[in-house]
Amino acid sequence: MTVERIRIFDTTLRDGEQSPGCSMNLPEKIALARQLEKLGVDVIEAGFPIASEGDFEAVRAVAREVRGSSICGLARTGAADIDRAHAALEGAAHPRIHTFIATSDIHLKHKLRMSREQVLAEVDRAVRQARGHCDDVEFSAEDATRSDWSFLVQAFDVAVQAGAGTLNVPDTVGYTQPDEYAALIRYLRENVPGSERIIFAVHCHNDLGLAVANSLSAVLAGARQVECTVNGIGERAGNTSMEEVVMAIKTRPDVFKGLDTNIATREIYPSSRLLSSTIGVPVQPNKAIVGDNAFAHEAGIHQDGVLKAAITYEIMTPQSIGRPSNELVLGKHSGRHAFRDRLTELGFELEEEPFQEAFRRFKDLADAKKTIFNEDLEAIVADSVMRTDERFQVDQVTVLSGTFAKPTATVELRVDGNPKKATALGIGPVDAVFKAIAELTDTKSELVRFQVNAVTGGMDALGEVSVTLSEDGRRVIGNGAHSDIIVASAKAYVHALNKLEWHKRHRQVSAPRGI
Ligand code: KIV
Ligand code: ZN
Repeated sequence: MTVERIRIFDTTLRDGEQSPGCSMNLPEKIALARQLEKLGVDVIEAGFPIASEGDFEAVRAVAREVRGSSICGLARTGAADIDRAHAALEGAAHPRIHTFIATSDIHLKHKLRMSREQVLAEVDRAVRQARGHCDDVEFSAEDATRSDWSFLVQAFDVAVQAGAGTLNVPDTVGYTQPDEYAALIRYLRENVPGSERIIFAVHCHNDLGLAVANSLSAVLAGARQVECTVNGIGERAGNTSMEEVVMAIKTRPDVFKGLDTNIATREIYPSSRLLSSTIGVPVQPNKAIVGDNAFAHEAGIHQDGVLKAAITYEIMTPQSIGRPSNELVLGKHSGRHAFRDRLTELGFELEEEPFQEAFRRFKDLADAKKTIFNEDLEAIVADSVMRTDERFQVDQVTVLSGTFAKPTATVELRVDGNPKKATALGIGPVDAVFKAIAELTDTKSELVRFQVNAVTGGMDALGEVSVTLSEDGRRVIGNGAHSDIIVASAKAYVHALNKLEWHKRHRQVSAPRGI
């Protein structure tokens, strides 16, 4: 039987990155793009080049770095958007321009203030312009699921005639239901002239918790590209979760007959961990496929069954998605080779210099801590390695606190390479440290959330702190790990401040929202 491929279009770096608290800096985006290439995604949507300098640079860097996947840049239908996307994709081995405009009457009336005729003219002009730049053009009809079906056919007809090869049918507001979405895909395949030469794509949001179900239902109706994100991150309730779609297709060949993806499923877990440690947003424990409990059998009757024969309660194996065992992974006698192998398994490919730094930190930790788990290694990498180009660096933190002492902190930072020192009093030691850092960095940001976790069990566990800051409407999350939670807190706060600084330098214009 011939196998038909379902293309996986990953928009973690665009629709995913757009959601609050999920922003990434350039080195982080490049590291994630490399992992997505290893995962085998067909298309990486690397950003929205006109939205900001930061997005432009990210698309440009990913386009130069990644050769195995197509690299896509998003553009509205305006001429400047499309030229900007084209410029950002200059170095790509397989560039794709993705242009979109809304087609629902709700959007035409309230947002675009355009007639249907004007929208059709925009589609025609934009797709032709994009085709002038590259052979691979995708057109999306934003809010397709609330659009008039016959108008959708008209818009797609214009896009096909202008040269689009992929037509995307986004459920922008997460409104559709599986049967309805499948019927829409079938209707479009039957009514858009030339549809047999076209790839129909689906792009779902999870507002009603149906993004994966809707995408799979559309696949059964003939869609051949699924747009999704790692861990399902994305606007509001998120986008379709890549790992759930891929594993559903893999696990049920009887349902998805003759269909498969190019995904190397053993890279799913490393990709999930890499994203989660990069943005500091943990995966909910009961999340399908990649959540901590996804393969944990607690009930006695289940444990008994799994021990007798895994098939009793396990429909897929943890190994098939690349979940390493969480036993003691390395000790203080482990060498560089074993350390590099384990990082690779966890999804981290480090250059020589950051690798040496991570190895040094691993050795320090191995001296202080009996057992080192995968989570410790992830914390080391996230805390020390993936941070380049930073304005502020923590040098020293000293605190005095306790039952009789007024909490006092002295913090020494490097600001643009220059040493600076401040002492502050606080309600508690963390408050004192944060006050000293705020004074040294002159920050106007507001602390939104402070969270402490033990990375693993045990008295010697590494403390992992996450700090959410907000400034001028932008939210960032910083992380820090250390065996002393006060030091971890200082690092997390400074990490978040560095992210804000990065955005100030790289994002003059903020990304258009609501798409
Ligand atoms: O949700 C949406 O409609 C989008 C489009 C730009 C594809 O993200
Ligand atoms: Zn979207």
